[in-house]
Amino acid sequence: MLRQCATRLSRPSPLRAIAIRADCFATSSARRTDRAVIYAENGNPAEVLRVKSYDPLPPPPPGSVNIRFRLSPINPSDINVVQGVYPAKPTQQHVSGEDVFIGGNEGLAEVVDVGSNVDGLHKGDWVTLGKAQFGTWASTRVISAEDVIKLPAGGFSEVNAATINVNPPTAYNMLHQFVDLKEDDWVLQNGANSAVGQAVIQIAARKGIKTINFVRSRPDLDNLICSLTQLGATHVFTYDALSDKSLAKHVKQWTSKSPIRLLLNCVSGPDTTAMTRLLGDNAHLVSYGAMSKKPLSLPTSLFIFKNLTTHGYWQHRWYQEHSRQEREKLMRTLANLKLKEPEHEILDLSGEPSDEAATKRLRDTLTKIEAGFSKKVLLRLQ
Ligand SMILES: NC(=O)c1ccc[n+]([C@@H]2O[C@H](COP(=O)([O-])OP(=O)(O)OC[C@H]3O[C@@H](n4cnc5c(N)ncnc54)[C@H](OP(=O)(O)O)[C@@H]3O)[C@@H](O)[C@H]2O)c1
Repeated sequence: MLRQCATRLSRPSPLRAIAIRADCFATSSARRTDRAVIYAENGNPAEVLRVKSYDPLPPPPPGSVNIRFRLSPINPSDINVVQGVYPAKPTQQHVSGEDVFIGGNEGLAEVVDVGSNVDGLHKGDWVTLGKAQFGTWASTRVISAEDVIKLPAGGFSEVNAATINVNPPTAYNMLHQFVDLKEDDWVLQNGANSAVGQAVIQIAARKGIKTINFVRSRPDLDNLICSLTQLGATHVFTYDALSDKSLAKHVKQWTSKSPIRLLLNCVSGPDTTAMTRLLGDNAHLVSYGAMSKKPLSLPTSLFIFKNLTTHGYWQHRWYQEHSRQEREKLMRTLANLKLKEPEHEILDLSGEPSDEAATKRLRDTLTKIEAGFSKKVLLRLQ
């Protein structure tokens, strides 16, 4: 299906003061202080994850800072970590008398206390994590100052800062590492409405690179096509279009001066195999996810006659292989791009009266994600 987008209080009255005191009292008695989303063993996230309160942190030891998380996303890989099927593993933590794992790999935190012998970090600084699988689904953590990356002041909105470590750098690096793309070149991608896909569209468009984007069909498809087009997508199709013979003809016409040399794949399965038929000679297929949970099968002829090259990309490996300076440079580059926030929903568990109530809401949301909820969910535990 080919679719296009159309289109503080100076002098409070006594009554007000009573209301404020009543509110404060209700808040402090209604909930414990700090909470974490934990699990004792791998399994289905909606069954094994639970919310647990813990005592306030003591002051940080030398070389460390206490941080308070403001927002932490739930990414597909976080789900895989909890399931026990992801190669990067968290280390066990002691939370209120239990040895458990804390979920979450990225998030925006604020420095709230600075230990001795720490340079360059101050109370109120916004930081993200320089350490993988640290456990970001928590109100507060103590962390070595070396394991945080200070974010450029004013560089990001709260949501963008909370989601800056994984998806935008993946999009940026995949667009720069494999093919030397110039203005008017073309990129093909699936999972185009994913957070990575949204970043790919925007980063490509800023360079005048055109994108052909594939998404799954849905009742509000027109809205999705419009929002991706507004981000800068050149064309948006559902996978159903791959069985329409006219698609290849259209693509050939559009790309006649610059046949497609980059396909970004986070889905795999037969639809991705069909997408490879749209590629030109000497193209590169970069796989960075497998949301369909199906293998990727490729015709041998593509390698022989069209000189296709295939790659895997893992941002985690990029971080392992690059210096802190390179990482900070990438953060500055991304800040300058001023990307639109990914489509998202915030799951605010801070007001829940008990750990049980917070766990129930969390599990309801995890069930929704498992069923295919399309927006990025971010956790707020404070
Ligand atoms: N390798 C790396 O370094 C790296 C880095 C970042 C992300 N990733 C991977 O990239 C992918 C996207 O991550 P994200 O955080 O951007 O995701 P996200 O915003 O949570 O979006 C998930 C995407 O997957 C699609 N999807 C889900 N199930 C699908 C299925 N059965 N068939 C086809 N599409 C399906 C969704 O489409 P609908 O809207 O139709 O449900 C949506 O486009 C994930 O696989 C993630 O693990 C890899």
